[in-house]
Amino acid sequence: MTIDQNIHRQPLLSVKNLSVTFTIDDGRFTAAEDICMDIGRGESVGLVGESGCGKSVTALSLTRLVPSPPGSIESGSVVFDGSEIMTMDTAELRKIRGNAISMIFQEPLSALSPLHRIGRQLVEAVLLHRQISKKKAWRFAEQWLKKVGIPDAEERMYSYPYQLSGGMQQRVMIAMALMLEPALIIADEPTTALDVTTQAQIFELLQRMKKNFTSLLLITHDMGVIWETCERVIVMYASRIVETGSREEIFEHPAHPYTIGLLEAIPRLSKGRQRLKDIPGQVPSPFNYPPGCHFQERCPYAFDRCRREAPPLYDCGGGQKAACFLLDKAKQ
Ligand SMILES: Nc1ncnc2c1ncn2[C@@H]1O[C@H](COP(=O)(O)OP(=O)(O)OP(=O)(O)O)[C@@H](O)[C@H]1O
Ligand code: SF4
Ligand SMILES: [Mg+2]
Repeated sequence: MTIDQNIHRQPLLSVKNLSVTFTIDDGRFTAAEDICMDIGRGESVGLVGESGCGKSVTALSLTRLVPSPPGSIESGSVVFDGSEIMTMDTAELRKIRGNAISMIFQEPLSALSPLHRIGRQLVEAVLLHRQISKKKAWRFAEQWLKKVGIPDAEERMYSYPYQLSGGMQQRVMIAMALMLEPALIIADEPTTALDVTTQAQIFELLQRMKKNFTSLLLITHDMGVIWETCERVIVMYASRIVETGSREEIFEHPAHPYTIGLLEAIPRLSKGRQRLKDIPGQVPSPFNYPPGCHFQERCPYAFDRCRREAPPLYDCGGGQKAACFLLDKAKQ
């Protein structure tokens, strides 16, 4: 087998033992601990977990976008398409960001400059990575604004970001992220600011990109969207991955008590209006993660060992893994 063929058999993205800390006035804490994940070519992976669990920090660290200081990537490896991102120089990183890997952020203004008109920003992004004329790049960008549902796209090309509503800014950022047909899209709550119709339109676009073999890492609180969009799911709790598996395994046979709690919190439309069952308690502050299993204070099954040791990811079969001592046959 040639080296090229070998590369195509490897996952597009392979993350090993990635840990990220923040140092603020109150001290230092770990926001993402020992994260390992693979994303295959053309695969869509959902990353879920309650607020503050480390999803965005994990996503940002994949292209080394964690703000430093206060953040610091302490260890780990991120191999994208055969190249190690952690040791890339700035020029190589710039080539990858926005072209091979593009990010849709929670906050649209973090990706748009307030100083320049939308059209100019989109055209510059196109010209940075494609060798086409400025005129063609302008038309191309305009078409993408239409694709993400921006009315009067021709005129909007001349607007500054502040002249657009939050939802419109979000759509511009989505157009910017998708238009260069990246190999991997990292979408962090991509549709929070959008109405339901536009959300559906964006997810349809993402589905269409998938047909071109684009991979997706989708972060969302909406388990319904995960079910419709992703083949595999990764669950994070308090800085750690606690479960991973195929969509069917996670939704139909969740193994970790936290995943079970998350799924019980989904409204089930077929059963009419029902009170959601919240997971009792709250995610602890990262300064107060307990020793052992981070979920112990909220877990109805916690026992002595959970307070002493951190559970590793146990193999549940079929690619599903969960970090819970209940899955250890030797338990005690
Ligand atoms: N720039 C930063 N400076 C200091 N702490 C940060 C920074 N960014 C994130 N954190 C902290 O890191 C932890 C993980 O945050 P992160 O944003 O990854 O959570 P999340 O899972 O994306 O939550 P949400 O669902 O609310 O977006 C949190 O405790 C958060 O307060
Ligand atoms: S390891 Fe213990 S505390 Fe953690 S989820 Fe499993 S049973 Fe609960
Ligand atoms: Mg986040």
